[in-house]
Amino acid sequence: MRQQLDIFPLDIATGSAFCNRTEEIERLSINIKGVTHTLITAPRRMGKTSLVVETLNRLAIPRLIPVHLDLMLTSSPTSVQQYILKAVGEAISEIKPIASKLNLAGQQLKKALLSLRPQIEITDDGFKIKLEATRTPVESISDALTGLDQLADKHGYRVVFYMDEFQQLADMADNETLEAAIRHAAQHARATAYIFTGSNRHMLSLMFDDSARPLYHLCDKIVIARINTKEYAAYLKDQAKKCWKKPITDTAISAIMECTQQHPYYVNVLCRHLWREKAPPGAKKAKEAWLHYVQYERGRVISDINKLSNNQRELLILIASEPTDTPYAEHYLSRVNFARGSVRNILKALIEQDFILCDQDGFYRVQDPVIETYIRHKQQDSTLIRIRIE
Ligand SMILES: Nc1ncnc2c1ncn2[C@@H]1O[C@H](COP(=O)(O)OP(=O)(O)OP(=O)(O)O)[C@@H](O)[C@H]1O
Ligand SMILES: [Mg+2]
Repeated sequence: MRQQLDIFPLDIATGSAFCNRTEEIERLSINIKGVTHTLITAPRRMGKTSLVVETLNRLAIPRLIPVHLDLMLTSSPTSVQQYILKAVGEAISEIKPIASKLNLAGQQLKKALLSLRPQIEITDDGFKIKLEATRTPVESISDALTGLDQLADKHGYRVVFYMDEFQQLADMADNETLEAAIRHAAQHARATAYIFTGSNRHMLSLMFDDSARPLYHLCDKIVIARINTKEYAAYLKDQAKKCWKKPITDTAISAIMECTQQHPYYVNVLCRHLWREKAPPGAKKAKEAWLHYVQYERGRVISDINKLSNNQRELLILIASEPTDTPYAEHYLSRVNFARGSVRNILKALIEQDFILCDQDGFYRVQDPVIETYIRHKQQDSTLIRIRIE
């Protein structure tokens, strides 16, 4: 029981639960070592955090301070400032020479972080560095990040400053000044590699790809997609042998891949369930378990689809039933009722909201396999009510 929870986690996957992503790990490792900043984009639950954590684990750089800042709950520059100051304080506490030479360190801290009135608080476990914001949030953020970098560099440390759900900043008042402060710190960093991730690819693209915005051309970009079928099949076969000492059939593997469309989160949801069985599942069992799960997720799917306009819903349903590489073709659109001229905007809106993606082969398809299965099955449902006569 414990085993499949570890192999197919629903949260961060690392170690033996981590499949493939070899190229992405290599690229991110090179960036971290070379203090090149990285932007990682992918739809929700595609494996961004797992990639960063697994890369850091494999890198095992001595004297590396990894900072993970989840900005999901921030809503103003002041709250971003609080998160960053806390993170910087904690990161500095990891610089060992500071712990052993508190006195000298106090002076260095004061010099590097003058505007933030650094205070060393001795705690039961050691000590804590507290920073106080005395300037505007934007100035404090810039001072704190630059100060951390200087101290790390001086003592031979490296920092990975990983900011998750970074697109939250784009909606804040004074967002461009905030972005400019982060650019300033990142551009002058000598010991800190920044990693930015987020699930709203549209917002991130506005922040990083627009030449008028401060973060333009700051990062190397890694886009993560689904894990390829060959790698996944080999991985699942291996996990089957470990679990049952028996092979799983190719048709069962194909069914798992087809249902989940190699989406790592859904592969884990399904396999976690299947790997509880006493023997390797067949294709039929895998498909039944998937349909059962889609049924269970019905409420969420309906609420997601209900957020769309009628036209958007109509196009989503068409693409779910028939993914296409020619979304504007007359014969393809013959089944929708809205004006042909508006299809470009409708498709754009669906892509921006992550309902539709264009895959590596140029096919437009539904991003979330649960939504796609739900729509396909809804369309096959009989309209007759089966009345039971006793
Ligand atoms: N390389 C991988 N091999 C196997 N499973 C993975 C891999 N990457 C991610 N997963 C699984 O996919 C799911 C999502 O992973 P993770 O939380 O890293 O994604 P995320 O993109 O950071 O998600 P979010 O958008 O919620 O922040 C988890 O169940 C995780 O265990
Ligand atoms: Mg994440």
